[in-house]
Amino acid sequence: MTVEEAESGRARTGAGTGTSTGSDVPGERPVAAAAPVIGSEEVAAVVRVMRSGRVVQGPEVAAFEAEFGALVGGRHCVAVNSGTSALYAVLHCMGIGPGDEVIVPSFSFAASANAVRLVGAEPVFADIDPGSFCLDPEAVAAAVGPRTAAVMPVHLYGHPADMAGIGRVAERHGLAVVEDACQAHGATLHGRPVGTFGTAGCFSFYPTKNMHALEGGMAVTEDRELTRRLRLFRNQGMEQRYRNEVVGANLRMTDVNAAVGRVQLRRLEEWTKRRRRNAKTLDAGLRGVVVPPVAAGVEHVYHQYTVRVPGNGRADRDAFAAQLERRGVGGAVYYPVPIHRLPSFAEAAASRTWELPETERAAAEVLSLPVHPSLSDEELRRVVGAANALCGFGSGAGVRS
Ligand SMILES: Cc1ncc(COP(=O)(O)O)c(C=O)c1O
Repeated sequence: MTVEEAESGRARTGAGTGTSTGSDVPGERPVAAAAPVIGSEEVAAVVRVMRSGRVVQGPEVAAFEAEFGALVGGRHCVAVNSGTSALYAVLHCMGIGPGDEVIVPSFSFAASANAVRLVGAEPVFADIDPGSFCLDPEAVAAAVGPRTAAVMPVHLYGHPADMAGIGRVAERHGLAVVEDACQAHGATLHGRPVGTFGTAGCFSFYPTKNMHALEGGMAVTEDRELTRRLRLFRNQGMEQRYRNEVVGANLRMTDVNAAVGRVQLRRLEEWTKRRRRNAKTLDAGLRGVVVPPVAAGVEHVYHQYTVRVPGNGRADRDAFAAQLERRGVGGAVYYPVPIHRLPSFAEAAASRTWELPETERAAAEVLSLPVHPSLSDEELRRVVGAANALCGFGSGAGVRS
């Protein structure tokens, strides 16, 4: 994102997949798929920290950890430099490594499975529930084997996974649960926040997330010993300078990132309300696509608003996305290729045959529509109008907001 975009407070992006949102509609600015906020408060926080001279894992990081605790029921919080680092550090500090298997969804960002491979363990892919797009507890139960050490539910798009069902399977087989909550800041299940169900939960502060820190991550846990290990591991195994107790890495968060994260955290509740309001408008207005279902007891935070496009799968979905873009609406596909089909997981894929029909179907049908809090009512109307027109409901049919 550019400085001008940053200073205008609305750095815009097509999507992680590189969607350009080049509109064919004359005079209309395209509706962006995502719009990370870097406003004057964020800029002021960065300048303040840089002038202070305390720039790495100092007071801002400590304050960010303390404040983030309020979002996760007072769990211990350990800030690191990315969500991937949080997942990797948690698995490593739990002693998961070579010879172990970790059950993960294949329908996720590659980072979930990358973290498993980074500690030398094997990802075992289980299928998803077609409603929530998250791990199906029955599929998890079927994937358990003698080497399974943990299960990693991903709260995809901001919708919590079925933690009661997954928790029962984990308990029955003595598995650790590591939640990938990188897309789900503040989402709850029967009032309980994600990140508090498992042994540990991990969050990302990448710019397009519901809140960001430019880059960054947070590991949260109730376990004091795991907290201590995480604190050591992120800082070369040191609590005291040059008294390295264990082998560690440099996964430290800077105070610059933490200061931005603190500004964003203060606005998360307001932004989540807007995401929910936007999702309601889309639910009410869209015709012809399958809008995202919300399971009982779930407070969705709509990191993405993901529909299923009608038709015969991938080609129809891709054509729909391209036409939507021509009408000035940026859509994005998360994720077009399931992890088990990525070249980076070819070896794991070769070791067995994965039967993941719901994962394959989702990868061919999903499309995320703009839902971010910076959308104006007019932009929302354009999203609904363009999508409905493509489904044969007229240019403005179904728009109720
Ligand atoms: C589901 C999921 N897991 C993990 C990550 C990794 O987070 P980060 O990009 O901060 O390393 C992301 C970020 O995109 C994600 O969406």
